Amino acid sequence: MGTHEPDPYDVVGIGFGPSNLSLAVALEEQQASPSSRIEATFFERQAEFGWHRNMLLPGATMQISFLKDLATFRNPASRFTFITYLHEAGRLAQFVNNQDFFPTRQEFHQYLEWAAARIDYDVSFGSEVTTVRLPESAGSGEPEHLEIEVGTPSGRKLVRTRNVVISTGLVPRMPEGVERGDRVWHSSEFLTRFAALNPADLKNVAVVGAGQSAAEIAGFLHDALPHAQVSAVVPSYGYSIADDTPFANQVFDPAAVDDYHFGTAQAKDAFWRYHKNTNYSVVDDEVIRDLFRRSYEEEVRGAKRLHLLNLTRVASVDRAGDAVKVTLDSLLDAERREVTFDALVFATGYDTMEPTTLLGDLNRYCLRDEAGRLVVERDYRIATTPELPFGIYLQGGTEHSHGLTSSLLSNLAVRSGEIADSIVYRRSQRELGTLTVG
Ligand code: FDA
Ligand code: NAP
Repeated sequence: MGTHEPDPYDVVGIGFGPSNLSLAVALEEQQASPSSRIEATFFERQAEFGWHRNMLLPGATMQISFLKDLATFRNPASRFTFITYLHEAGRLAQFVNNQDFFPTRQEFHQYLEWAAARIDYDVSFGSEVTTVRLPESAGSGEPEHLEIEVGTPSGRKLVRTRNVVISTGLVPRMPEGVERGDRVWHSSEFLTRFAALNPADLKNVAVVGAGQSAAEIAGFLHDALPHAQVSAVVPSYGYSIADDTPFANQVFDPAAVDDYHFGTAQAKDAFWRYHKNTNYSVVDDEVIRDLFRRSYEEEVRGAKRLHLLNLTRVASVDRAGDAVKVTLDSLLDAERREVTFDALVFATGYDTMEPTTLLGDLNRYCLRDEAGRLVVERDYRIATTPELPFGIYLQGGTEHSHGLTSSLLSNLAVRSGEIADSIVYRRSQRELGTLTVG
């Protein structure tokens, strides 16, 4: 076991994707004087900074305006804005000449890497947090801090903190009973898996799903494998458009979080019923039109190799040597048929972040609603019983309490700013003696 830190941190961030990167920016900008410094550290299990690297497909664009970066909506004067990055990279004028609100994911990734490299706080890469708990000694009296257990390249380490911000990201979802392997992939591992095979061996491939990931991968495979048949297994009649028109887009505004959080159950339900199509199981207009154009051109030429298997879902998958045998259920003719592919990509989406495993024994202090979901306060802090006076904050996994933006970048700057404010406020309360510990 490693050594204990001398003093508890004010906050430990678990995961260092865009959410906790933005939190680090907000905490750094909170510090008016050295004496008010918030002591924070971050742990990230990847060996280096990376934001959905396996989906950095050529030409794929952001689904938010570049102004929804790590800081601008909270502090447009921040040194971490996308505009500052462009200025430093010497591309500001060209970016403006390009007249596009939506940078490529490649460019935004470069921006995030640039920001991650200039953060003042320690970030430990290759470090996976396995548990958040109370120290063993806490049984005998009032606990003074939380204990975080981290697996690092040099062994296990314990860290003490008064607050923790869990931002471990979305969890890839496969259909029940389908196992991943070298020829059956989830979209979250796409580029790595694709690079491991010889393209010449991929003559007949399929992508399952009708969301943005599925459509982008179908286009990529169509380009990268000009000799191959590419099938899209789509549960709907065809790809549907992501609504990013201005009125609907207001569901991603910071104000919508209040409307959702403090709204009635019917209001919350209406957000999802009317506006789920701003983000889930939908595709950008441009990407849809590009795929259709390809398909139509092939039809004109009489050389079809992009196939849409619509109203179809995958029932089961079996490996047969290098081939993948797939059973497909079609709603069109209610037929079940078997098809063989050389590789199959499941772009079947993600489950929301679920902190229960990390929290282990601490779960018993966390309040849950009648549906069994964590009660999360407006400041993204899990409501706990008084025996646990520390802050456990969530970035992600709060769709039920904070709405559609919970795991997205749209409200990133404001969300992480609100968490930073809460941590600073609670520390000042503790220093004034009005808050016991956290
Ligand atoms: P993210 O998943 O990015 O980061 C979590 C980090 O925690 C990871 O680096 C992971 O390694 C680490 N981690 C996990 N468990 C850990 C542990 N126990 N210990 C230490 N580290 C741990 N949204 C949007 O608004 N606009 C967009 O354009 C896009 N684009 C987009 C593209 C693709 C391909 C996907 C799949 C998703 C999007 N999204 C999006 C949504 C997406 O949720 C969002 O962009 C961010 O990834 C959210 O950032 P987080 O930091 O919360 O999670
Ligand atoms: P998603 O939007 O949740 O889509 C998953 C798709 O898989 C849905 O069409 C779903 O159909 C389908 N599906 C699930 N199980 C199936 C089965 N057994 N057979 C056939 N189809 C099945 O997931 P995503 O496309 O990965 O998008 C996730 C998030 O990442 C979104 O926020 C998206 O905007 C974002 N993203 C952004 C970019 C970008 O910025 N360029 C790129 C990729 C993704 P049902 O609807 O019927 O369940």
